[in-house]
Amino acid sequence: MIAPLVKCSPFIKWAGGKRQLLVELDQRLPPAWNTYYEPFIGGGALLVNLDNHQLISRAVIADLNSELINLYRVVQDKPESLIAALEDDDLRNDEASYKALKEKFNTIIGSPLHEIERASLLIYLNKHGFNGLWRVNRKGKFNVPFGSHKNRSIPSGASIMKFSALLAKVKILNADFEAAVKTARKGDFIYFDPPYQPLSKTANFTDYNSRGFRFEDQERLARLFRKLSKKGIRLMLSNSKVPAIEDLYEGFRIETVTARRFINCNGERRSGIEEIIVTNYPYD
Ligand SMILES: C[S@@+](CC[C@H](N)C(=O)[O-])C[C@H]1O[C@@H](n2cnc3c(N)ncnc32)[C@H](O)[C@@H]1O
Repeated sequence: MIAPLVKCSPFIKWAGGKRQLLVELDQRLPPAWNTYYEPFIGGGALLVNLDNHQLISRAVIADLNSELINLYRVVQDKPESLIAALEDDDLRNDEASYKALKEKFNTIIGSPLHEIERASLLIYLNKHGFNGLWRVNRKGKFNVPFGSHKNRSIPSGASIMKFSALLAKVKILNADFEAAVKTARKGDFIYFDPPYQPLSKTANFTDYNSRGFRFEDQERLARLFRKLSKKGIRLMLSNSKVPAIEDLYEGFRIETVTARRFINCNGERRSGIEEIIVTNYPYD
């Protein structure tokens, strides 16, 4: 187990973020690995935690969300330009500013000509919108309401530079999870943190992307898990404690842990909920 010491910190709050579960994940890490893969990167809490303990020499991260991946790439390649963009006086914590900046973001969303502005606005919207949620409408426009948070801080230049140094060791992909781990080999370690399976029929907010993450995707992920396990790759996966998900990982070590959360991948508010951590290797 590694002590929860934090030097670098995630610069965005992401729905389903793993900060609350870090201690449980730390206790279940494999003893060693070559390349670390995190194909559902979100806010990247585990990647950061591992790097703070000098456990990352090489990594591959991915996410299907193109705006999130644009942000990681900008932090990796152009951190100074991002820091300058975040100093803009227009980035204010009031509803009128939020609405105007959300509108601006939606006019440039996906545009390769506006990488820096998209990245700075994504950080701003993430910090000032409701609970760090990412949600888009049918037209692919970001539509999270203003969060009314009293104290909001934009990440400091120093923290962005620290994250940029970490990303120098990382390959960043805008890809589906299956494509993201194609290069994984025996001795590598993959942590899968998919959008969680809803606990109930009403809790069905799985709109991370316009396509959503369906039960078929959970099945596809479980098939991939079995395939990668046979190759000798070390695997860890978290999900909600739902019988249908536990069935998919029959034969692997499944442990139930309790995580306190404000929001999770399903956009629900709950605290002290049960989650599972699945691994394919021994630990104690
Ligand atoms: C539970 S969140 C990850 C949280 C992250 N571990 C953290 O600490 O913030 C799931 C992520 O999976 C991404 N995602 C959804 N479907 C995907 C897919 N098919 N392939 C890759 N990423 C996907 C979402 O955009 C979201 O960022």
